[in-house]
Amino acid sequence: FLNRSLGGLFGVFLAFFGAASLSFAWPKLKGGFGAAVVAGKVDDLRNQVFLADGAMQPVFIASAQSWIVPYQGNPDDSQFGANATVGGAGANVGLMALWQKCVHLGCRVPDCVSSQGFECPCHGSKYNFHGEYQDGPAPRNMDRFVVSVADNGDFVIDTGSVVQTARAPVKTALYPQGPSCV
Ligand code: FES
Repeated sequence: FLNRSLGGLFGVFLAFFGAASLSFAWPKLKGGFGAAVVAGKVDDLRNQVFLADGAMQPVFIASAQSWIVPYQGNPDDSQFGANATVGGAGANVGLMALWQKCVHLGCRVPDCVSSQGFECPCHGSKYNFHGEYQDGPAPRNMDRFVVSVADNGDFVIDTGSVVQTARAPVKTALYPQGPSCV
């Protein structure tokens, strides 16, 4: 009787373990980090990022672990990686999504309004507001996600598609523009 009970328990354990492993390994197809995340309407986000006085304010999207920042260049430029930017109507001002995870050892990187960049509190890596490497032990620019704008105006961050780029030899955003935060 004991042998059968133990065998049954072991079978139940294996079934649970198998199901948990499968659900962990299975890619998320919709919603949540690891999949496509709708950050909001692209026009609303632009209004939040580009302030009336000409300054910029990164917008944090927790569900995508992303900072939404300006992209002020030609959408066909490749320095930020394929499909990592979206263009803007007319003014050629668009957006991109930076992964908040520091590319050095993975700390969360906050924005620094006074310097107009991102500064890691762990070991001092610094990036301008395009996520380009400026200083510290980080081996490359901040990572970006593939982004797109849906027909209904949703700004979509594909957190399953990480775009990595090498330290930019020529920076596309001025940094620092004021005192650092770390
Ligand atoms: Fe950011 Fe080390 S984790 S500098």
